[in-house]
Amino acid sequence: MRGGTPGEIERLDSQAALTFEKELFLLRALGIDSASRIAEIGSGSGAVTERLVRAFPGVSLFAVDPDSDLLAAARLRPGLAAKIDSAVSLVEGTCESIPLSDNSMDVAIVRYVFQHLLNPVVGATEIMRILRPGGRIVVIDSDAQLWGACSPYTPELMEIHARAADSQESRGGDRYVARALTRILQTAGYVGASLHSFAVSSDEVGLEPFAAIMNPENLLPHVESGLITMSEYALVLKDYQRFVADPTHVVMSLGFLATATTPGLPATPTVTARMA
Ligand SMILES: C[S@@+](CC[C@H](N)C(=O)[O-])C[C@H]1O[C@@H](n2cnc3c(N)ncnc32)[C@H](O)[C@@H]1O
Repeated sequence: MRGGTPGEIERLDSQAALTFEKELFLLRALGIDSASRIAEIGSGSGAVTERLVRAFPGVSLFAVDPDSDLLAAARLRPGLAAKIDSAVSLVEGTCESIPLSDNSMDVAIVRYVFQHLLNPVVGATEIMRILRPGGRIVVIDSDAQLWGACSPYTPELMEIHARAADSQESRGGDRYVARALTRILQTAGYVGASLHSFAVSSDEVGLEPFAAIMNPENLLPHVESGLITMSEYALVLKDYQRFVADPTHVVMSLGFLATATTPGLPATPTVTARMA
């Protein structure tokens, strides 16, 4: 990851700032509110934890991440610091081993974590253990083939980006995980799995919030590892500068939310039921 932990914190903040409001629209439609006991698994730097606490005042939130540096950064957030150990807990743990008792949560939110897991079914199964019967899992993730769209668009350069995305596969993750999410939840034994998408366009929010995800410098670790050549990087950089300078530019990014409930008591409403 470019920039080590500080770079990762900045990237996670930009990413949350870009799409959290769209995700929140879906979370509310699913019936999640301040009364929900929420576990956020793989909470990272707390970028979303802080936004969840702001969106659902008084909520009881238990956040878990294996990275002690990111947890330490989360503890320093102004919106979390005063609430830690009362309404909010930030604890070391993983998807596969969550330090919570059985049936203790109403909702689990797992955002951009499943793409990093060797076996997401194992994580989904452990999350089922901590959810009450009828409790809801919400998994938010991306699919590298459906990242979004931009124009002007240079198809010849897409293979370079795809190569970077595919390198995660060789480390055991899955950058195309969004298409597999409903099946992962079904395989783990959840019921009523459904998939939803959310999009954000630079015509809504401007180009600046997209900078962190579009920045060609994100490819630098792949240049260092030899996966991408310097001349390929120079082509991507030039293309990006041309894109930014074009007054007609537009970029749209796409994310996915899969949700399902544990078997048992009636769940909170489905998105479709709420919208009907
Ligand atoms: C891309 S970050 C997302 C962080 C946060 N969910 C957000 O959206 O801002 C991925 C996070 O997953 C965490 N992670 C990696 N492996 C994990 C595992 N096995 N269980 C839980 N979290 C994990 C990392 O430490 C990191 O904080």
